[in-house]
Amino acid sequence: MLADKDRIFTNLYGFQDWGLKAAQKRGDWDNTKALIERGQDSIIEEMKSSGLRGRGGAGFPTGLKWSFMPKESKDGRPSFLVINADESEPGSCKDREIIRHDPHKLIEGALVAGFAMRARAAYIYIRGEYIREAETLQKAIDEAYDAGLIGKNASGSGYDFDVFMHRGAGAYICGEETAMIESLEGKKGQPRLKPPFPAGAGLYGCPTTVNNVESIAVVPTILRRGGAWFASFGREGNHGTKLFQISGHVDKPCVVEEEMSIPFRELIEKHCGGITGGWDNLLAVIPGGSSVPLVPAEQIMDAPMDFDGLKELGSGLGTAAVIVMDKSTDIVRAISRISYFYKHESCGQCTPCREGTGWMWRMMERLRTGDAAIEEIDMLHEVTKQVEGHTICALGDAAAWPIQGLIRHFRPELEKRIHEHNAQFAEAAE
Ligand code: NAI
Ligand code: SF4
Repeated sequence: MLADKDRIFTNLYGFQDWGLKAAQKRGDWDNTKALIERGQDSIIEEMKSSGLRGRGGAGFPTGLKWSFMPKESKDGRPSFLVINADESEPGSCKDREIIRHDPHKLIEGALVAGFAMRARAAYIYIRGEYIREAETLQKAIDEAYDAGLIGKNASGSGYDFDVFMHRGAGAYICGEETAMIESLEGKKGQPRLKPPFPAGAGLYGCPTTVNNVESIAVVPTILRRGGAWFASFGREGNHGTKLFQISGHVDKPCVVEEEMSIPFRELIEKHCGGITGGWDNLLAVIPGGSSVPLVPAEQIMDAPMDFDGLKELGSGLGTAAVIVMDKSTDIVRAISRISYFYKHESCGQCTPCREGTGWMWRMMERLRTGDAAIEEIDMLHEVTKQVEGHTICALGDAAAWPIQGLIRHFRPELEKRIHEHNAQFAEAAE
């Protein structure tokens, strides 16, 4: 279990004030100028040595991503940092807690990260529904400007750096990095084809890096305590501390900072008071937000909660939004509801996703009630395979994977429903 002294988010539960003075007492903005004076290359090397992988869900190495940004400006074009605070993945609520209670970690991180990648400014794109959080964040940005920590000659470093907050309008797809860039440019939020990746052509066609809130908020602490300190947590390829968000059938749902790779059972026992009704009552877990396939109880118990451990189980860490389902859950209904979400949120730009998400949801609803033929289970699986990997952005995959997980692990339940429905139908016809 992570010791208190190793926690980065020391005000995660808002027991103290989030404002600048209190944040400074906790160590934020402590000689930020000295961090910047280390120089761009040195900061990027330190981040690489920390092993930090992106906390938005994909787990791309953060230091490596920064190193894709150009060292020299072409045609006088500026570079930008875009911070993804559009947290919309069902089950995810960690970035919200950071912004609510520790916003200065994010703003200081924006400055240091922005400097390292030679960005002129950071745009924080915050989820539209986060109304109070947006108010807090804007006040924190204003405080930082008033204290000279950002803006011209930020923190006395000689570097000019602006931070802007932009509010989303409720579209899940705007959390996809290129849709976010389109939205920031004032256009309809629809993903772009990649490549080019944003580092080549991003906001207004300029070099851009898009990072998640948690990825940026941990940067100042990593630089102060050292990449080796951060890398000492977790295991090879899965380093650091991580915010887990545990919801569903546990006694105490919570957001908690823990060591990466902590076994599932330990995470739940130590922080959530166990599974409702005891461990024998656990049915399945969605370990990384709604985009990743579920894992049945017997497989997840001792699994390390990290990128590679969950990948081995055919799932993923995603945003570490751990959704726990006990045996009272109608698992088919739960996955059908997730299917509806993706159908609703598809931007409609590419055919497999626009049409496939609707198909998949309608077939899921038939399976939910049992009003289907047995062959339709394989047909649905085939449809998910037609969508997966054939779309512009990851939303198509995200819609396909939960259904694949359901069929992989709960096929007997699907068949049972169909048989029961057919039996009722035959009885009624007699
Ligand atoms: P991705 O794997 O395509 O990209 C991850 C990051 O690495 C991006 O910033 C991309 O630009 C960069 N990258 C990847 N390959 C690159 C290359 N060859 N050169 C330069 N840069 C490269 O994943 P994506 O689509 O950005 O994210 C998908 C994940 O997002 C899902 O796994 C899901 O867990 C998560 N997600 C999170 C949500 C949230 O609310 N936080 C909402 C929805 C999904
Ligand atoms: Fe839009 Fe879906 Fe295509 Fe993504 S996969 S671009 S959400 S239609």
